[in-house]
Amino acid sequence: AFIVGDNCIKCKYTDCVAVCPVDAFFEGPNFLVIDPVICIDCSLCEPECPANAIFQEDAVPEDQIEFIELNAELAQKWPVITELKPAPDDADEWNGVANKLKLLER
Ligand code: SF4
Ligand code: F3S
Repeated sequence: AFIVGDNCIKCKYTDCVAVCPVDAFFEGPNFLVIDPVICIDCSLCEPECPANAIFQEDAVPEDQIEFIELNAELAQKWPVITELKPAPDDADEWNGVANKLKLLER
């Protein structure tokens, strides 16, 4: 499966959801996750993310390994999102800021 990593937090551009053929994205207040059970590994979402926040499970950076579990966990709690919506006004300011996990709203 593919997973969403740290740089999506407070960016949430949602370009990824528009291309997913199986509706595998789930939406929280300031972050999206992928349900690894639903994801069919098509890889379409990865290049769509302006924040480069999507990784194949086997290629997740070392310091973001905990996001694998986090995607599986939060996909069970959050509602599905299937359509593009406007990003937060300050999304571009947060794009590239490291270690945003402490800012995650659940
Ligand atoms: Fe959806 Fe494909 Fe991305 Fe998986 S890899 S979340 S199936 S677009
Ligand atoms: Fe997040 Fe990138 Fe999608 S910032 S919402 S994973 S397009």
